Amino acid sequence: MIRFENVTKRYRGTKRPALAGVDFEVQRGEFVFLVGASGSGKSSCLRLILREDVPTTGRVAVLGRDLRSLANRKVPYFRRHIGSVFQDFRLLSSKTVFQNVAFTLQVTGSSRGFVQQAVPEALALVGLEGKEKRMPHELSGGEQQRVAIARALVNRPQVLLADEPTGNLDPATSVDIMQLLARINAGGTTVLMATHEAAFVDQMQRRVIELKNGEMVRDETHGGYGDRSMIPQLAPEQERGAAATAALTAVQEVQRQTESLQPLTADMIASMKAARDAQPPAEPATPRTHPVLLPEVDVAELGVADRLGLSAADDDEEVGPTS
Ligand SMILES: Nc1ncnc2c1ncn2[C@@H]1O[C@H](COP(=O)(O)OP(=O)(O)OP(=O)(O)O)[C@@H](O)[C@H]1O
Ligand SMILES: [Mg+2]
Repeated sequence: MIRFENVTKRYRGTKRPALAGVDFEVQRGEFVFLVGASGSGKSSCLRLILREDVPTTGRVAVLGRDLRSLANRKVPYFRRHIGSVFQDFRLLSSKTVFQNVAFTLQVTGSSRGFVQQAVPEALALVGLEGKEKRMPHELSGGEQQRVAIARALVNRPQVLLADEPTGNLDPATSVDIMQLLARINAGGTTVLMATHEAAFVDQMQRRVIELKNGEMVRDETHGGYGDRSMIPQLAPEQERGAAATAALTAVQEVQRQTESLQPLTADMIASMKAARDAQPPAEPATPRTHPVLLPEVDVAELGVADRLGLSAADDDEEVGPTS
């Protein structure tokens, strides 16, 4: 139904491929989770299946068609067999619920009779009977995603692609949408869903394909979410004083600068000492009542900041245009 053969996708102007040597096959009727950290290549996979993009090398075949040899003019017809839903719903804001679902049917030339029958059926399937005349902004997020799912299903596609369909929804609404997707799959539609929802993946125990930096690192028939190390964890923030923050910044700055600093050789130290000894002692600008005694400094013992010239003497130096 969907086959990736050694697929590599390299976007223009990027060093690392978004997908590298990806190989898998999805059979009719399967429910497959596509998981992996942000940037691991999930959406890139889905875009290749929709023929929104083509692989740099390798082959993608969907519903028995090699997408590389699919002529551009045939792409809209090909896409009728694939429904897709996204995190941000992508509804037409100036059209009613009915019109949103009917739109793709109308542009692909379906008869009025078919539209009048298929749209209410699709809306009933997702539990939105009676809301045909609402505008998208008059619906909750979960209801908007149901409209998007109805729109994706109205052509009775064999495959439904879902790219983080619950990403913008609260947990309870997300469960509803997951149950709806599971029901759609039970009706025979193949579902491929990219998600970060570890709990759903663990609970459903369906096939899991995991990507890491564009490479497929796992393909498990009844899998869980797996590696959670990339899911950010909230940790209690330690209060830091402004002084501690400033000190840290200063240390980091010195570390950055010393990375390019050559180690001091004995010759360099000797010439620095000679230069210092040759200078006449500076006269204080105003007479001091208490003489300040400066200890003799061995250059080898100077702190990093002094060696870099970051000491107070340079404070007045302009570092660049100020306006
Ligand atoms: N059009 C593009 N041009 C250049 N680089 C891109 C493009 N689209 C994606 N990428 C890069 O390809 C890699 C994979 O991106 P992709 O969107 O497939 O990841 P993802 O797994 O869907 O991430 P997320 O979980 O954040 O949605 C990333 O490094 C991304 O920056
Ligand atoms: Mg994505």
